[in-house]
Amino acid sequence: MTYNFDEVIDRKNSNSMNVDGWREYIFHAPRDQKFPFPDDEYVRMWIADMEFGTPDCIIDAMKERLDKRIFGYTKVFDPQYYEAFLHWSKSRYGWEFPKEQLVTSPGIIPALFELVEYICKPDEKVLILTPSYAYFKHAADHSHIELVCSDLLNDNGYYTMDYADIEAKAKDPKVKLCIFCNPHNPSGRIWAEEELKRFGDICLENNVLIISDEIHCDLIRTGLRHTPLAKLYPESDQIITCMAPSKTFNMAGLMFSNVIIPNAEIMEIWKDRHYDFDNPLSITAAQAAYEQGGQWLAELKLYLDENFRFAKEYLGEHLPKAVFRIPEATYLGWVDIGAYVEQGEDLPLLFANEAAVLLEGGNMFVQNSDTYIRLNLACPRAMLAEGLRRICELLNKRAK
Ligand SMILES: Cc1ncc(COP(=O)(O)O)c(C=O)c1O
Repeated sequence: MTYNFDEVIDRKNSNSMNVDGWREYIFHAPRDQKFPFPDDEYVRMWIADMEFGTPDCIIDAMKERLDKRIFGYTKVFDPQYYEAFLHWSKSRYGWEFPKEQLVTSPGIIPALFELVEYICKPDEKVLILTPSYAYFKHAADHSHIELVCSDLLNDNGYYTMDYADIEAKAKDPKVKLCIFCNPHNPSGRIWAEEELKRFGDICLENNVLIISDEIHCDLIRTGLRHTPLAKLYPESDQIITCMAPSKTFNMAGLMFSNVIIPNAEIMEIWKDRHYDFDNPLSITAAQAAYEQGGQWLAELKLYLDENFRFAKEYLGEHLPKAVFRIPEATYLGWVDIGAYVEQGEDLPLLFANEAAVLLEGGNMFVQNSDTYIRLNLACPRAMLAEGLRRICELLNKRAK
């Protein structure tokens, strides 16, 4: 390994959401609320960013940009950015899209909020598959659009889509849009081509437009491959794709993501209403990531593979009644601890209060997620080992 993923980097005093924002985000508690452990003692396994440093090739590119000394209004004019991202997409997913379809957004969440507003009339509905990343729900709520959920099927921790249920819901003429997660957070599924095709056919045959949020598509286990949904429907303009270097290279705070909009009408609204500037450092960082980040990512994936192997073994030994599969994608472990906790128990609060671990779980994933915890494994192995030790110790103590 060239890169040292075992390094523990001090994130204090950096306005980090992960370090300083957990009271508000997880517990809706005031910033000064007292918890039983000092902040420094918590093992943080919650929000989906990583404890690893962004690769030097990206930081060096930003330093060069800093040397230009002026940070006036900026947006992507240079076609080199498109070329870099297109090359990334072609070589990794075998997918191409025309330059005119690519726009950028300060994050996928803001893009979802905007797109729901642009696409749905007030009496229309948004479909999501649950458990779900909660911001899919928030995007609908933000525009006061009714949410329709289709629960994924769960066979001993392996999730699949309930096509009959999706079809029944898609047939409602008011269901206008589906926000789809590919690969899926929190289950970690990489949807196979056949699954994508069945899902896509149902939506498109029922005039349901799809936003395919593919933010996790680079973070897959070594040797596996991601398929963009839109790649399977080259003739359709009903699939909007969101991708970003933000999760992949641990630069979510730079707030820069890609949105590929093939539909001319939606693109016109976007161009008319989207506040269309980008952060100059973010453009530089994103381009450097796509041009030079491949080697770092390959090594990161090996480290994550090993973290998952470690977690699987540790949980197998110390928490045998938990249900956990190594996910195909994401750096997030999705663990059913139903054998150890009560239905409806507030799991993030339990682990914060009694184990000094910060994690997400239960109804933070909208529905169909009770008794599940989501563990962020993108951390040095020693941190992971300590987090798992505390989780298992608490649950075993309670089981006695
Ligand atoms: C599925 C999914 N979409 C979007 C985001 C966040 O996107 P952004 O930081 O680009 O707004 C996350 C972050 O966890 C996510 O898991």
